[in-house]
Amino acid sequence: MVCLGNICRSPLAEGILRAKLNDDFTIDSAGTGNYHIGDLPDKRSIQVADKYGIDISNQRGRQFSVADFDDFDWIYVMDNSNFKNVVKLARNENDIAKVKLILNEVYPNQNYDVPDPYHDSAQGFENVFKMLDEATDVIKEKILKN
Ligand code: 4NP
Repeated sequence: MVCLGNICRSPLAEGILRAKLNDDFTIDSAGTGNYHIGDLPDKRSIQVADKYGIDISNQRGRQFSVADFDDFDWIYVMDNSNFKNVVKLARNENDIAKVKLILNEVYPNQNYDVPDPYHDSAQGFENVFKMLDEATDVIKEKILKN
């Protein structure tokens, strides 16, 4: 799960998907930027997750790296800017094929962004939670069929 800062959207995506799958799956998140390495998720992400019974306070920010193409089968990005930044790091077509816009799981081929809620109110975080909850339902079904 990849966003820009790895403090708002992708920690939620990681936490929500983890809550839906068992420990057989390696789920992680990262940011394309380096501003929040080692940081806790944003308080508002921690709060909205907590409201739905998910604890994401053990997560710490890290930056996406080329090694992630080797370590993960699927790389879900939150928005089109993240998509471009991750694809820039790809070494080959196989790497690129792993990168997917997360909302395309719910709205195929629409290329919608999960909006960055950083400068938004708590409602923005609630909206992001709902979008990611829907998307991870589809991802869960796909993973379990795989
Ligand atoms: P995120 O939100 O990409 O959903 O974690 C952001 C958080 C912080 C910054 C940018 C996006 N920032 O520039 O500090």
